Amino acid sequence: MATRIMDEAAKVFADPKSYTDEAALHAALTHLRANAPVSWVDVPNYRPFWAITKHADIMAIERANTLFTNSPRPVLTTAAGDDQQAAIGVKTLIHHDDPEHRAIRAIGADWFRPKAMRALKVRVDELAKRYVDQMVAAGPECDFVQEVAVNYPLYVIMSMLGIPESDFPQMLKYTQELFGTDDEEMQRSSSIEESMGVLLEMFAYFNELTAARRATPTEDLASAIANATIDGEPLSDIDTVSYYLIIATAGHDTTSAVISGGLHALIEHPEQRRRLRDNMDLMPLAAEEMIRWVTPVKEFMRTAQQDTEVRGVPIAAGESVLLSYVSSNRDEDVFDEPFRFDVGREPNKHNAFGYGVHFCLGAALARMEVNSFFSELIPRLNEIELTGDPAYTATIFVGGPKHLPIRYSLK
Ligand code: HEM
Repeated sequence: MATRIMDEAAKVFADPKSYTDEAALHAALTHLRANAPVSWVDVPNYRPFWAITKHADIMAIERANTLFTNSPRPVLTTAAGDDQQAAIGVKTLIHHDDPEHRAIRAIGADWFRPKAMRALKVRVDELAKRYVDQMVAAGPECDFVQEVAVNYPLYVIMSMLGIPESDFPQMLKYTQELFGTDDEEMQRSSSIEESMGVLLEMFAYFNELTAARRATPTEDLASAIANATIDGEPLSDIDTVSYYLIIATAGHDTTSAVISGGLHALIEHPEQRRRLRDNMDLMPLAAEEMIRWVTPVKEFMRTAQQDTEVRGVPIAAGESVLLSYVSSNRDEDVFDEPFRFDVGREPNKHNAFGYGVHFCLGAALARMEVNSFFSELIPRLNEIELTGDPAYTATIFVGGPKHLPIRYSLK
């Protein structure tokens, strides 16, 4: 029987509130990296798992994608949440393993490659300008997260999918409810069943979209998914709606968290803001640093298919490992002064987009959105300050700031 030592600090992973207090969270993660980099976590309401906090271990696990699979437990939820999701049968890209995963991923992949991104750039730049102009109109004060950051990536991804603009607010609400199930302000309800109702409503919405695009194909990503075939067969209904679901959710809350968390960092580090403004060629590096700094996707999981070990700790077949991207992106063995926000950081080997076969499909889009937004904002920004305390979402999966009250003057 393997030794299973649980370090008390590892409880942070199963406590949504821990992500609302970054200082306490990072103190716990730093302790784990130094003392228990592979820690057993067995707490009420969750099935037990191993918490992996070192960058090198996470990369090795992601590389070994047949030994460590995404199925059956791709992200951490409560045991009740695991059961509900299994009952609903949700099967997005992150629930699949190869070979199905590779075939299904290929359907959407061209839409997110650099060539497609270059074609989209003019539009994304225009939208960045539109949202910075809106800041001017709303100024001199706003809640940057709710008034600006959430809307801009939402607009981009929903337009790509082909969702009508009148439905964007509903899509935003669904995503916030889905990722905010652990946050009292964002959640629809504290009951698991009612929270899962969000998923069912999204499925109903997307089933209608599939039917419409199969009846009359258009030029959007929704049509490409609805009419795709694998070995001559269309995708199953559950694979089709799940595809929409992951793109419609992963495609904006993540990027908006980076934009608002990135702005928060620039407010707290005015010397870095000036450095960037004086040398806008640093923008691509600054965008990577914001993505590392915020790491909006907190974790993904893998499950061992046979007995193995990580850093000498035995992991039995059937046991799950949680990959803490938040921890690996502050790993002292990989980053020089990991707690320094440095808009010129180079190299910056963060793994906020994961690694290997499941590497984030939308990484090039997210990078472009962050670049376009700050390329518009920074040269126009005279002054900026906080007018209250920022608040972070309680989550164990995806999140970042939910309120960032600011006062500013813009050209
Ligand atoms: C800064 C913003 C973003 C971050 C930090 C992020 C992060 C991640 C991470 C960590 C994964 C899992 C990778 C792994 O298991 O190795 C992932 C997967 C994925 N992301 Fe993103 N993401 C972002 C933006 C986006 C956008 C804009 C889209 C747009 C469609 C997107 C779509 C996806 C999809 C479809 C997957 C599943 C890929 C697969 O399983 O093959 N993400 N993302």
